[in-house]
Amino acid sequence: MLSYQHAYHAGNLADLQKHALLAWMLDYLTAKPKPLSYIETHAGRGLYDLSGPEATKTGEAQAGITRALSEGWLPDDHPLRHALDQIHRMHGPDAYPGSPLIARYFLRPEDNAHLAELHPTEHEALTQVGGFAHLHRQDGFAMAQAVCPPTPRRGLLLIDPSYEVKADYDAIPRQIGQIARKWNVGVIALWYPLLVDNRHAPMIRALQQAHPDALTSEVGFPPARPGHGMVGSGMFVINPPYGLQDEARRIEKLFKRL
Ligand SMILES: C[S@@+](CC[C@H](N)C(=O)[O-])C[C@H]1O[C@@H](n2cnc3c(N)ncnc32)[C@H](O)[C@@H]1O
Repeated sequence: MLSYQHAYHAGNLADLQKHALLAWMLDYLTAKPKPLSYIETHAGRGLYDLSGPEATKTGEAQAGITRALSEGWLPDDHPLRHALDQIHRMHGPDAYPGSPLIARYFLRPEDNAHLAELHPTEHEALTQVGGFAHLHRQDGFAMAQAVCPPTPRRGLLLIDPSYEVKADYDAIPRQIGQIARKWNVGVIALWYPLLVDNRHAPMIRALQQAHPDALTSEVGFPPARPGHGMVGSGMFVINPPYGLQDEARRIEKLFKRL
């Protein structure tokens, strides 16, 4: 049973960190005239309406991307700004791109994309905007294991689970270890929540021990509502592109203002 729906959370502070780093990496990787593979295990629906009932109910986008744009967190030349500008031109000012449409902005015809989304409704919505990619309605880790190492070999894998299944925390280091062994040149990026009960901590410790050269970037923020367990977000990146660390530190400093 999948109950998580990203429409309630799209554009929140966690998306801001994840999508700013994702756009930065894709901009960097597509600057070279060599094809690449883009793979996502948990794609979501791809396009969100921040004026819809889900986003307005939680107010998370208002406290996230809307505030960040009004306070100049993303300079005009930031890659995420470019992707957002295109989405606003195409779908109006309240539209917000999920990670697949951020990727679509950067990918070129010679690039190869695979997106997995298991939820039937979310998958159906993804088919409306995901025509640039191979779409898989199956478990994202099974898809990633099947397509890695991808062709072309150069590329990026985003793992952005909803962590509805507690077993994800135990399974992720093993899944990532297997993929990284098969695909030692791939950029592998995992998003994870920072939780009050520290449930994420053993998973991150295991990943850091197994991949000592990976980048870990964590940002803290106030809970979306009183008592909510998520108080920050993190990105763990194996084979981080050159310069990602500086962008990650810049973003970490911005979050310290909250
Ligand atoms: C956090 S959301 C993804 C958000 C998206 N990556 C973005 O940044 O715009 C997680 C998604 O994973 C889907 N999902 C949950 N379990 C899955 C699984 N085992 N395989 C693939 N997708 C899954 C959920 O339906 C949900 O849409």
